[in-house]
Amino acid sequence: MIVHKKLANGFAFIEIKNSAAEAKIALQGAHLFHYERVGEEPILWLSEVSDFEYGKAIRGGVPVCWPWFGFNEDKTLPQHGFARTAIWECVSCSETDENSSSVILRLTHSQESLKMWPYLFELDLHVTISDKLTMELKTTNLDSTPFTITQALHTYFALTHISDAVIKGLDKKPYLNALTWKNEVQEGDIIFNQEVDRVYQEVDGEITLCDKNRTLHVRNENSSSVVVWNPWIEKTKRMNAMKPNAYEHMLCIESANAFDDARVINPQKSHTLKAVIY
Ligand code: BG6
Repeated sequence: MIVHKKLANGFAFIEIKNSAAEAKIALQGAHLFHYERVGEEPILWLSEVSDFEYGKAIRGGVPVCWPWFGFNEDKTLPQHGFARTAIWECVSCSETDENSSSVILRLTHSQESLKMWPYLFELDLHVTISDKLTMELKTTNLDSTPFTITQALHTYFALTHISDAVIKGLDKKPYLNALTWKNEVQEGDIIFNQEVDRVYQEVDGEITLCDKNRTLHVRNENSSSVVVWNPWIEKTKRMNAMKPNAYEHMLCIESANAFDDARVINPQKSHTLKAVIY
């Protein structure tokens, strides 16, 4: 079942339910803000105090950061780009079988986007909801000159508790520590006992998130960078739409093309960043 719905304030989203899983995707930002496999706790974290208001990014789920990840050189432009607060169009909804449904949302250049980023483009997010969550973010250059993008599928995972969380699969990978802007190398698994904000590079394998009662895997394609983020105590207090203890129940593993992994897309060519979570 795929149903188009609206909140009382008019905020539009698509609800998907099949025999394997259920999900909700907002038209603003093509923002998946709920994904749950039948009989399990939700896989995505969503802030209890998130805004569902046009113009404000939802806190949680999977924000689409595009066409830049992080800050733009022009600091007046929004962090993580404009796609997550733009209104996308639903171009296809289909139920492949009783266990799998798929939705494609599209964003194209507009007068507003051209003021922030002067290129003609088509951006499609293809989400497949089954016992796996598959997201394919396809950028097509419709312009006559090449352009460069950085981007991320900024997945917020729900946790039993941050003290139980362990990330495996990034041992020996170089990373940029975004708290110190130093380049470092990961030694062993990642555990969390302080703020973590890192852009891992040269990532080529599966990443595993072990929580108290569940193990999840993230497999990326056409991506060699992964951002790992938990704001910890002090930053959480400064963040929008997060309760003070929110950092205890979330962490982000972001499937990215960030920093050294920026991609140049030539005219009439496409690039698809893919993330599968299972
Ligand atoms: C992460 C960054 O990707 O996104 C963090 O590494 C940042 O530094 C976080 O705080 C959240 O960003 P925003 O714009 O959603 O508050």
